[in-house]
Amino acid sequence: MVSRLLQHNSAISKALKENEGANRRDLPTLPTDVRLGRIVRVLMGFPTVVISGTKLAQEIGTTRSEVWRLVQQLRTLGVEIAGHPASGYQLTAVPDLLLPEMLEPLLRGTIFGASIHHYYRVGSTNTVAMDAAGAGAPEGTVFVAEQQTAGRGRGSNKWHSAESTGIYCSVILRPNLPPTDVLVLSLAAGLAVQSAIEAIDPHVLPDLKWPNDVLVGGKKVCGILTEMSAEATRVRHVVIGIGININQNSFPDELAQNASSLRLMTGSEWSRVELCAALLKSLDREYRGLLVGRIVHSEILRRFEERSSSARGRRVRVEENGEFEGISEGLDPRGFLQVRTPEGLRTIYSGTVRFK
Ligand code: BTN
Repeated sequence: MVSRLLQHNSAISKALKENEGANRRDLPTLPTDVRLGRIVRVLMGFPTVVISGTKLAQEIGTTRSEVWRLVQQLRTLGVEIAGHPASGYQLTAVPDLLLPEMLEPLLRGTIFGASIHHYYRVGSTNTVAMDAAGAGAPEGTVFVAEQQTAGRGRGSNKWHSAESTGIYCSVILRPNLPPTDVLVLSLAAGLAVQSAIEAIDPHVLPDLKWPNDVLVGGKKVCGILTEMSAEATRVRHVVIGIGININQNSFPDELAQNASSLRLMTGSEWSRVELCAALLKSLDREYRGLLVGRIVHSEILRRFEERSSSARGRRVRVEENGEFEGISEGLDPRGFLQVRTPEGLRTIYSGTVRFK
């Protein structure tokens, strides 16, 4: 039922408009009340029927007046629900909120379907995920937010995380790998984003920029921040944090030159739920493939080079301990980018690569 409803992007409610966030400063930085998701799930289960407040209250184990309060809360969050306590309730559009109830049915059979934590507003899903992983949260735990107030990028960059327009998602992995292999995992995450975008719209041609930016039309639509806790020889946990610009209509001036969204690039609204599910399915495929040896490291490196227009033969400027220029010459066996400079071949460990 969920996937059938999700096929029609035109029916997706635009959960929150970009400029509406200012009215919702009072939203708590707390995991979402799970009863909100349950109400959405019950209403989605009967899309053509008006459901009485009494029935909804029974289904989620609360009172009719509490249902009314929760319905009002969902409305403030952009979920379109017709009706009131006397008449009953009905969804009038499929909500495009990344609620567990929306994602879980689409993620059955993956490691990401069992434990999804949703926030309307959070500092950074990566921070929450790293804390949870440190406290023992299992592999496959997912943290998603409608908005981040302190979204983090590589280095000390910030990640612009406007409300309900992008995907802000972090997952916990516990791979039995040495820390030196985590870069390959991170490159695989870029491949997963790329194939998820293509799975939703095969006309979009996402390009990879090392280490794992995803570009469309030369502009960045996705960034990935991979963090880990490790001993010298053993990874305790990895958090892969993925930010995708989806339905933004504009960006702050300082980002507008280099950043874009899938909506700006394609001219149409995207379902965040559909893309988020495609992304996690694709990540599950890459990750499990790597763990069981179905996918070997060299294959990830080869595919990355094939799917990146800039990994080889591109004039680049690298910002790493100063700046230098050269021609990209593919990835070394560990996944680091190599750049040919007049002084010789240089390996890029953590720098930012810019095109010339
Ligand atoms: C980059 O390109 O610099 C990486 C950006 C990563 C952004 C994502 S959004 C979800 C997760 N939470 C964060 O604070 N950062 C990552």
